[in-house]
Amino acid sequence: MKLIWFDKIDSTQDYIKSHINELWDDTWVIANTQTKGRGRYSHVWYSTEGGLYFSLLKKNLNIPVLSLIIGVSIFKTIQDIYNITPLIKWPNDIYVFLEKPKKVSGILIEKIKEDTIIGVGVNLNQEDFPDDIQATSLKLFSGKYIDKKIFLINFMKNLYNDLEYYSVYGFEDFRKIINNHLLYKDKNITANSGKISGVLKEVDENGYITIKTQDKLLKLNAGEIEMLREYNIW
Ligand code: BTN
Repeated sequence: MKLIWFDKIDSTQDYIKSHINELWDDTWVIANTQTKGRGRYSHVWYSTEGGLYFSLLKKNLNIPVLSLIIGVSIFKTIQDIYNITPLIKWPNDIYVFLEKPKKVSGILIEKIKEDTIIGVGVNLNQEDFPDDIQATSLKLFSGKYIDKKIFLINFMKNLYNDLEYYSVYGFEDFRKIINNHLLYKDKNITANSGKISGVLKEVDENGYITIKTQDKLLKLNAGEIEMLREYNIW
C-alpha cells in the first residue's frame, strides 16, 4: 500500500487518472483541499479545508456492487467513530437526517480498462455549507471533531475487511445493512426528471434498486437512475 498526501491538488481522482501507469495497486491519494473536486454527473464537489478527500487505485477489481460495499464501509466508519447511525442513499451516498436529509459523504467510481479509481469525499469538520447544497459535516451534525487521519485509518480497516468478507461470503450481509438504513425506504421517490416515480422498496440481491410504480415493480441499476429524491417534500 502507498499513500500520497497533498495539501492542495486539483482532484485526487484526476491525479490518479493522469499517473495511472506509474502507480501501484492500493495507492491512496489524499488531499486537504481540492480546486477541481468533482462528483458524479460532472457535479462540483465542494472541497474546502476540513473535509477529507481521497482516491484509491485498485487494479483488477471486478465487483458489480462495489459502490454499495464502499458505502457500507463508510457507514460503519461513521457509526464506529461518532456513535451515530447514518443513512445510505442508494447507490453512492451517505446522509444524516437534520430536519431534512443532508449529505455527508459521496462516492465516485471510475473504471479505466482493468483499473478502478474509487473517489470518496467526506464532510468531516467543515463549519458551514452554501445554502444551495443539501449537505452538512459530521462535525456540525455530531459536535465531534475527528482528525482526518483517524477517520481515514478506520475507513481503510473497514474497507479491506469488507472487501475480504465480500470475496468469501458475497453481497447478502451488505444488502441487509443497506436495506436496514436505506434513505427514502418506503417513501415516494422520483428520478430521471420525473420519468420514474413510485415507492422505493429495497436493494435486491444484485444491488439493483426496487421501485413499486402504479402498475409494476421496477428493478434498476445505478446507471439507469439519476437524481433520485423524495417526491415533493424537500
Ligand atoms: C458524488 O457525490 O457525486 C461523489 C463525490 C466524490 C468526491 C471525491 S473527493 C475525492 C475524489 N476527487 C474528486 O475530484 N472527487 C472524488
